[in-house]
Amino acid sequence: MHHVKIIRCATPEEVGKRAADMYTALLQEKPACLLGLATGSTPLPLYRELVKRCEAGELDFSRVRSANLDEYKGLSGDHPQSYRYFMNTNLFDHINIDKARTIVPDGLTSDVEAMCEAYEEKIEEWGGIDLQLLGIGHDGHIGFNEPCDTFVGKTHEVELEELTREANKRFFNSIDEVPTAAYTMGIGTVMSARKVLLVATGKDKAEIVKKSFFGPVTPMVPASILQFHPDVTVIADEAALSLID
Ligand code: GLP
Repeated sequence: MHHVKIIRCATPEEVGKRAADMYTALLQEKPACLLGLATGSTPLPLYRELVKRCEAGELDFSRVRSANLDEYKGLSGDHPQSYRYFMNTNLFDHINIDKARTIVPDGLTSDVEAMCEAYEEKIEEWGGIDLQLLGIGHDGHIGFNEPCDTFVGKTHEVELEELTREANKRFFNSIDEVPTAAYTMGIGTVMSARKVLLVATGKDKAEIVKKSFFGPVTPMVPASILQFHPDVTVIADEAALSLID
């Protein structure tokens, strides 16, 4: 079991700033790094901070590559709720990254197996993920790796849990529009990253943060596997850490 670094912040904005400091350090050390990126509301303050630092000339993404964790099955990159669209509008459109060097699983693929295999190969070809960003779902999912009997290694298709669809329906007109499946990097893909950064904010994440990092390692709590990763940093606000002293 490895020691997980936990950074306690007063506010979600501070979480964004402390997380951005890790990117500032990484980009200095390795300007052509591969970033594993995530969607959800928790990374937004971080993305705003990265945009700000890039605009201020403090960060240069010109040689950076990125691979996103997941995508909804059936949504095209132009769909406002697709994760490709989320990444473009919240980050890529505002920084000097070459979008041709950013990948997100293809929600419209007609050959799931080939798409997933190609996704893994691209990550490998690009030298492996240097820093994998993660949010956390209320059931402990990372990417869209839902609670399950076994940890699934590679990029694959998943059925979404009702809890997850409920949590994400706020972005859609109704629950019926929330896709029932998705493509996600596997637990193995995430675990192969050299460094992992998990961000969590809000009281509603307190219980799952505690379970994930201080409870038993089990595929029923997918994030718990991170206890076995040698370099994990959790940056969270007081609310999300309120059950941990
Ligand atoms: C989604 C994403 C996850 C994300 C989770 C939590 O299901 N697939 O990658 O971590 O939601 O989202 P939020 O940060 O909005 O709570």
